[in-house]
Amino acid sequence: MSIEPTLNVETLGLRFRNPLILAAGILGLTAPILKRVIESGAGGVVTKSIGLKPRKGHPNPTIVDLDFGLLNSMGLPNPGLEEFMKELETLRGLEAPIILSIYAFSEDELVEIGRIVSDFDVVSAVELNVSCPHVDGISEIAKNPVLVESYVRALKRHLDKPVIVKLSPNVSDIVRIAEAAVDGGADALTAINTVRAMSIDIEVGRPVLAGIFGGLSGPAIRPIAVRCVYEITESLNVPVFGCGGIETAHDVIEFLMAGATAVQLGSVIARGGLRVFKRILKGLKDFLERRGYSSIDEVRGLAHRR
Ligand SMILES: Cc1cc2nc3c(=O)[nH]c(=O)nc-3n(C[C@H](O)[C@H](O)[C@H](O)COP(=O)(O)O)c2cc1C
Repeated sequence: MSIEPTLNVETLGLRFRNPLILAAGILGLTAPILKRVIESGAGGVVTKSIGLKPRKGHPNPTIVDLDFGLLNSMGLPNPGLEEFMKELETLRGLEAPIILSIYAFSEDELVEIGRIVSDFDVVSAVELNVSCPHVDGISEIAKNPVLVESYVRALKRHLDKPVIVKLSPNVSDIVRIAEAAVDGGADALTAINTVRAMSIDIEVGRPVLAGIFGGLSGPAIRPIAVRCVYEITESLNVPVFGCGGIETAHDVIEFLMAGATAVQLGSVIARGGLRVFKRILKGLKDFLERRGYSSIDEVRGLAHRR
């Protein structure tokens, strides 16, 4: 009789019942929707990125579906930290860790966010978004190792929770930036945010997005994301959340074999709805059983074997 493989992941002192986590910015802006995501099977959720003050975001159009992926330039719209904490308060006691995604335009803002969130026990960890490719003042941080290190250090000094740093693929050497984040005290990394890109409407001869440039997500960026996870875990011993274009159990296994501790799902949910969690979980169990693995820990990092 075969024993059902276990899918749970222990990392950062947290227990995820499976490795599928909602990525930042996808459905993560209200408590009822976050609750539905967890009820749909997610092992954890990352919220929309939240700043200290409310922010409108960019004018429309902010998102376009290119078939092979989404191009978005939302511009980080959000109600601000205080309002959002009231929203999250109603999620107390859920069975999946809640990771608060945050961004800041200065270290002072970051320190204030850290102080406020430290006492907020609904949140299990914080993901620091330094990598939004279409918001001036944020996209620059992820490219500069000195800034990354000092941002993370400032946050860690004032926040008594695990800090995950979300990295940008829009750099020439992602390992260098990953090292800077770890030097600053990052407990884990997320790779990757969207790839800076643009699309032009040839009938009117203008960029499609009001913000001109946007971030490409979805299956088109998966090989870039897998490469980033592999490169980082080849050099650094730090948990990495893989993110970018995951649509199937096959894709999840690919990221785990590249060295990811768990994965985040974004565009696939925006396009296909919440049933993806159950579908992928079944596919993961089937794969592990078929190949005789008893847990996902046995699969992690396999592609690094020499
Ligand atoms: C509409 C949209 C909004 C997003 N908003 C955020 C955000 O607020 N913060 C963030 O760190 N990433 C944000 N992202 C990036 C995703 O979290 C993820 O890194 C990226 O989409 C790649 O994963 P995917 O291919 O599974 O979508 C957003 C992506 C999309 C498509």
